[in-house]
Amino acid sequence: MKTASTFCLLLASLITPSLWPIIGHADGVFAFSPEQATHVRTLAASCAACHGTQGNAMVKEGGNASEENNPVLAGRTRDDLLSKLLSFRDGTRKATIMHQHSRGLSLEEIDMLATHFSMQKRVIRLPLSPQKLEAEHG
Ligand code: HEC
Repeated sequence: MKTASTFCLLLASLITPSLWPIIGHADGVFAFSPEQATHVRTLAASCAACHGTQGNAMVKEGGNASEENNPVLAGRTRDDLLSKLLSFRDGTRKATIMHQHSRGLSLEEIDMLATHFSMQKRVIRLPLSPQKLEAEHG
């Protein structure tokens, strides 16, 4: 009987969105509540201009991801992203712009963004080569 009720509770918790935050970090499985999911996607859209769609910045062939290109965020570990963002925020990590960005975020938002980008799949995106215009004007 105990097993059956535990199973029902588990099932109910999976289908009840209001319980998602409670089961959030359990056993390494993470799920955002619908409100959190909308919020983190909105925040992540502001990172896309530089870090690419879903954190997949375009990286020049053979280029160094941290110098010539904006850093790729997709698929990095949550701990890595979290520690970088926190150290930008407290000024211990040198930055050209990220110290400003991270100061505009709450600790909860930083936590959600680190989780979000760690869950994105890494996709190699090479920039398109410049278009050659060879129109003939007669
Ligand atoms: C205007 C461009 C720009 C935007 C927008 C931006 N970043 Fe950055 N980001 C950078 C640059 C450039 C660096 C390299 C550090 C520096 O110079 O500030 C960086 C570095 C980082 C790093 C450290 C990566 C590493 O490997 O060292 C993380 C994590 C990061 N950004 C997360 C974010 C998140 C999350 C957002 C959105 C809230 C965001 N960035 C928005 C340009 C940007």
